[in-house]
Amino acid sequence: MNILFMGPPGAGKGTQAEVIVNEFGIPHISTGDAFRLAIKQGTPIGKKAKEYMDQGLLVPDDVTIGIVEERLQQSDCEKGFLLDGFPRTLSQAEALDEILSRLNTKLDHVINLKVDRGKLMARLTGRRICKNCGATYHVIFNPPKQEGVCDKCGGELYQRSDDNEESVGTRLDEYINKTAPLLTFYENKGLLRQIDGDQEIGTVSDEIVSVLRG
Ligand code: AP5
Ligand code: ZN
Repeated sequence: MNILFMGPPGAGKGTQAEVIVNEFGIPHISTGDAFRLAIKQGTPIGKKAKEYMDQGLLVPDDVTIGIVEERLQQSDCEKGFLLDGFPRTLSQAEALDEILSRLNTKLDHVINLKVDRGKLMARLTGRRICKNCGATYHVIFNPPKQEGVCDKCGGELYQRSDDNEESVGTRLDEYINKTAPLLTFYENKGLLRQIDGDQEIGTVSDEIVSVLRG
């Protein structure tokens, strides 16, 4: 099954992706995670991406599309995949259609997680992530049992460098201006399903699974 998660920064895409990739046994393709890994490894793509990400701006399309194209060609994607954070512009969406058509496949479901803008700032500034396994927590909404320590692996939790008020404000504006128009693009293809992302994490997961199995 080929799935795309959409939704503004902080809507819960990463949190829900953890659950859904386990449920369906498919790889999780997150352009944000791919860029953060490239930054950690100090690659040329990482250096370029960092200039944009720290400010909350989208990384240029050519860099981003190349990364996804390479990833989708890997054999583990033949059983399906979950795309999270890509596409984010119309050019990226058109490029994705071309890539998938070359691979003789297509998207099966586009899930949009809806959360009011007013709630997103608190979600993002309170987010903490495990350095070791990437699990996501929130200091208030989804706290680990022991402060600063991952429940799953005991790893240390950290805060993303773009989870500050200024970068989050820019990310939300970039979403409205460049990414939200894609909802119409996928609605016109009859693929878009809306999920209320402002519910308990487990309730949101259950609703997504039921749409995907429906
Ligand atoms: P990316 O890493 O994709 O970040 P994002 O879209 O800003 O999304 P987030 O990871 O911030 O949010 P999320 O929806 O995954 O929320 P989460 O589940 O963590 O991109 C980062 C940057 O990379 C971009 O700004 C850009 O520069 C670049 N980039 C990436 N892709 C690109 C592309 N295609 N083109 C160009 N540039 C690109 O949840 C958030 C918090 O809320 C957590 O603390 C969580 O515990 C909590 N939470 C989750 N669900 C709930 C709930 N139901 N109730 C209460 N709290 C909840
Ligand atoms: Zn962990």
